[in-house]
Amino acid sequence: MSSNLSNSVLKWYKKHGRNNLPWKVKDPYKIWISEIMLQQTQVNTVIPYYLKFIKKYPNLKSLVSADLDDLMLIWSGLGYYRRIKNIHLSSKIIAREHNYNFPHKYDDILSLPGIGRTTASAISTFSGFSNKAILDGNVKRILIRFYEIEEENKTILEKKLWDKSVSITPLKCTSDFIQGMMDIGSVICKRTNPECCRCPLKSMGCSYNPTHKREKKIKKKINNIKMNLIVLINQSNQIYLEKIKAGKLWQGLYSSPTFTLNSHTNEWMLRNNISDLKPIYRSNIMHRVTHKKIMFNTFFYFLKNDKKVSLSSKNWYNLADINVGVPKYQDKALVIYRSEYEKNNV
Ligand code: ADE
Repeated sequence: MSSNLSNSVLKWYKKHGRNNLPWKVKDPYKIWISEIMLQQTQVNTVIPYYLKFIKKYPNLKSLVSADLDDLMLIWSGLGYYRRIKNIHLSSKIIAREHNYNFPHKYDDILSLPGIGRTTASAISTFSGFSNKAILDGNVKRILIRFYEIEEENKTILEKKLWDKSVSITPLKCTSDFIQGMMDIGSVICKRTNPECCRCPLKSMGCSYNPTHKREKKIKKKINNIKMNLIVLINQSNQIYLEKIKAGKLWQGLYSSPTFTLNSHTNEWMLRNNISDLKPIYRSNIMHRVTHKKIMFNTFFYFLKNDKKVSLSSKNWYNLADINVGVPKYQDKALVIYRSEYEKNNV
């Protein structure tokens, strides 16, 4: 049965698989970068980031000397910034322990920060150094539906799924098989509206019926948070940004000052001699990160050059070319500022 299943997946992959993606190469360094980007982000979003990253850092040598700030800038907008910090850390380890060559051995790859069993399997298998199974979200969904697996206990479920995945993964053409499973999971066996009529596993006896809502949706509890965001622009067309401190969400990126309490906002405004100014606009910016929904109550202030504020002169960035990484909410604030500015200055 499992060899029939793998043959069906391989046949489908040959005809319909996404084998023209830019990371379909044999260089483990490039595959590593793509797999880390793909960990929490869709293929179409990843493509331009991957191309830009590989152009700037085509190999480990070019990456290892990069400044984390520059890496944060190139990652800016992709989200889940822990990924790029782990790439930075890993690059140093690879330089030191593997003489600047991305390791070929599965266990060496698995020991790098930010790399779990699936990512290590994908990197070593796609680059032709092993033939290991994977278990990402797509493969899990296919296996649960195909084998009608019902298991409440998360640890037992994970173990059952890994065992299944290993047992169906062929030792030959493993790379095409795991890529085929990922592709079937993302284009056919989708979480919502799966297209069972064109699925190669239908003829293999898959009896999953999407109209019987058997799958329990685990509802994540959403944490609603309110923050104040103070956007300061000066007459030289510069914006005031501070580096986000360690331990905070988006640490290492640069942002307009944020506050959770109005009292802290007011104290900060007073301390920096801004409290007598009236905002030029106010806007609500909504931002969602995993289980947090943050509403940024955003105030835009325009500072004339003769306004004596006590803010550091080093923290002003040219609006036309912000050369540091910023979180998505900051980008949204910039879009609002630019459109208001254009409205008032045409
Ligand atoms: N998700 C993780 N790795 C992937 C890959 N190689 N192709 C498509 N989606 C993926």
